[in-house]
Amino acid sequence: MTKTTLALACGLAVLVGLPSLVRAHGDAAPQPVDTTGLDPLGDDIRTSNPYEGNKVAIRIGANGYNQNCARCHGLDAKSGGMAPDLREVEAGESGDGWFITRVLHGAKKDDRFRMPPFEGILSQEAIWAIRTYVENQPKD
Ligand code: HEC
Repeated sequence: MTKTTLALACGLAVLVGLPSLVRAHGDAAPQPVDTTGLDPLGDDIRTSNPYEGNKVAIRIGANGYNQNCARCHGLDAKSGGMAPDLREVEAGESGDGWFITRVLHGAKKDDRFRMPPFEGILSQEAIWAIRTYVENQPKD
């Protein structure tokens, strides 16, 4: 094999290898959440959780959480220390408002997002379902 064909072969291997690499990291990309089964909420963002205690919301929220939040906030909503433990966010309306604002707008520090904004990716139905799931996880 000449140097050129070797380089070509390597390049090809990288190209062919790429899709599987992308797939391996696929769960890091934000995932839309199917909220079928929950009352639709319209466009106005609520400031308190309309699904509090709703069993369907807990189930849908578990999915949404695991796909979009667990990699930073920890499996089963138990923080591994990399990002705040979401079970510690205050209960009730002030905690609710803080929660949805943070999720829609993300969190920036020194011009860098420490948490990406989920506006346009997750519906408010999905975000409230996630809040409901987190609030119903045992606090150890
Ligand atoms: C890339 C990592 C990352 C992902 C993904 C992520 N977060 Fe965060 N989140 C953070 C970090 C880091 C902070 C702390 C930001 C700060 O205070 O500077 C944070 C803060 C928060 C806060 C405020 C918590 C508090 O105690 O004040 C909420 C609420 C929150 N995240 C919810 C979520 C939800 C819900 C999801 C999934 C839809 C999510 N986050 C996805 C990294 C992430």
